[in-house]
This record gives sequence, C-alpha cells and structure tokens, in this order.
Amino acid sequence: MSEILLEELPGVGPATAEKLKEAGFNTIEAVAVASPAELANTAEIGESTAAKIINSARQSADIGGFETGDMVLERRKLVGKLSTGCVEFDEMMGGGIESQSITEMYGEFGSGKTQVAHQLAVNVQLPKEQGGLGGSVIMIDTENTFRPERIKQMVQGLSERDGVDYDPEEFLRNIHVARAYNSNHQILLVDSAMELANELKETDKPVRLLIVDSLTAHFRAEYVGRGTLADRQQKLNKHLHGLQRFGDLYNSAVVVTNQVMSKPDAFFGDPTKPIGGHILGHTATFRLYLRKSKGDKRIIRLVDSPNLPDGEAIISVTTEGLVDQ
Ligand code: GTP
Ligand code: MG
Repeated sequence: MSEILLEELPGVGPATAEKLKEAGFNTIEAVAVASPAELANTAEIGESTAAKIINSARQSADIGGFETGDMVLERRKLVGKLSTGCVEFDEMMGGGIESQSITEMYGEFGSGKTQVAHQLAVNVQLPKEQGGLGGSVIMIDTENTFRPERIKQMVQGLSERDGVDYDPEEFLRNIHVARAYNSNHQILLVDSAMELANELKETDKPVRLLIVDSLTAHFRAEYVGRGTLADRQQKLNKHLHGLQRFGDLYNSAVVVTNQVMSKPDAFFGDPTKPIGGHILGHTATFRLYLRKSKGDKRIIRLVDSPNLPDGEAIISVTTEGLVDQ
C-alpha cells in the first residue's frame, strides 16, 4: 500500500517512530487502526498528539474514513472465492472461501481444522482457473502444527488432479509461517503480516490468505477463570477486528480455527459452544462446524453466514489432501 515511513508522519520524530516500532506499530496501516490510548501508552505521548498521528496515518493510508456505497460495491466486486478442492464444500460456500471475510472453523481435536488450513494454503496459490487466488499465504501457527511434508503431499495430489507438474518447493516458498508464543505476540503478528503483505502487494504473489491456527488456544490457556472472561473477550474482539482489517486492505481471505471440547468444560461453560462465544460469532462472517465421521470422512456444517443457507458437506481427508467423499 503506502511506502510512507512512520517518521514522515506529522508529529512523529525519529524517537517516537522508534518507540512505535518497538511496540509493534511498524506500518502506517498499523498506526491508522490503533486507538489513541493505545498509542499514547506505547509511545509515551499525549492522547491528543496520538489522535493527530492516527488521523494523519489514516489519511496517508487512505483508510478509516467513510466509504460510499458505490465504493463498497467496487471493493466487493474484487471478492475472490478460494476453492477447497471439494465440490460439495465449495457449493455450500457459494463457490469457495471468500476474500475480505473471516471464516471460522470450529470443532473437536482431530476434526480436520488444521488439515483444511493446509489445503487452503496450497490451493490459494493456484491460478483462478484452477480455483485459486494466485496468491501467497501467511500462517500464524500457535500450536506448532504446520507440516511442510503435508504441503508436499497435497501439492502432489493437485498435480495428479490437474495433470500439471506443480513444484512443491515453490508452493512452500509462498507460505510464510510465524509461530505465535502467546496471545500478545499473536496479536502483534497481524501487524507484521500487514508489513509483509505490503511488501508482496505488487509482486506476482500478493498475499491472498491469512490463517490463524489456532485463534483461541493461547487465549484459552492464559485467561483462566470466570473473572478474566471480559478481558479475554475484549482482546479477542480487537484481534478479530485487526484480522478483518487485514482482509479488507489486501483483498485476502482470513481463516481462523477454534477448538471445542467434547467434555464439559468447567471454565468455559456450554461444551457445544465454541470458545470466544458470541463475540466470535458476530465477527466471523462464515462459521464452519467440523465433525469426525467414519474413517477419513469429515462433516462440515455451515452454521452462520450473511447470505447463504445453512448446509452440510462431507469431505475425505486423504494422503493427497481434501477430496470429495
Ligand atoms: P486440533 O488442532 O487438535 O483441534 O485438531 P484439528 O481439527 O486441527 O485436526 P487435524 O486437522 O490435525 O486432523 C487430524 C486428522 O487428520 C488425523 O486424525 C488424520 O485423520 C488426518 N490426517 C492428518 N494428517 C494426515 C495425513 O498425512 N494423511 C492422511 N490420510 N490423513 C491425515
Ligand atoms: Mg489443529
């Protein structure tokens, strides 16, 4: 997007720029979506100065103001659909996973959330004719479950499907993985993701998919007990808004995972409800509930979407990747 440096914003000297960067505000975009209180605390400046800096960042980045209806329509015209590689699944999603939206996958351990995430990281790189978005992917990996070997198998699977000799190494080069060590780090990585997306914006592989697997694991581990619920939800909500912003700015799909427990969970209440509760429910645009079925079969239910009927699709998780049952 903008090649303007933080130092060039009115009111930001080299010292302030340095403090902002240390706090993870590395780009104009990151500053533009911050709150004055947040910025004031990290950069040790007054709130009114912070508000001015945010304003000029918004103007430079051309975000944060109102959009007229026709502008929204223009932006929506760019919405891409990322194929899952499974006919039923794609149809249920109205053609595929949408860019500029957050899609949440929730389900028990082993229900296939990470497998679907891996498959999407491969598929997004394909040209549009093959169901991809011709882009690269950023993966925020909180549980150390990214497996390059699995990517290679899936690329091999696609080579057979399409009768094209895809190069697995090239697919791996377009997957940018970052480990998140705690919830704060996870949130800061969205800013780093914006930086990377800026760098790749004009290349032949702009970022078209951001994955957070798992969105909620760190939050669940760190915020234990009923007294911390409000804090957790507030942080999670802010994180989700950052992710939505990412999707809008870069016309990228955003896919997050959320584990649910089969056993009653004393801290988080109703076991059939995903953690994050209704806050996640209202922010994630598409919600998919994954369940194990016989053998390698998985049932995927579209629970909630703005413009599609609820439905179910069955897929198989095979060595070659996701395929129709
Ligand atoms: P949690 O992260 O623990 O909540 O689970 P998850 O929903 O992310 O589950 P995941 O996607 O890791 O699914 C694991 C299941 O996928 C395994 O039990 C296998 O059935 C299947 N699977 C994983 N790797 C392979 C593979 O290399 N080949 C095949 N055929 N199946 C695999
Ligand atoms: Mg997983």
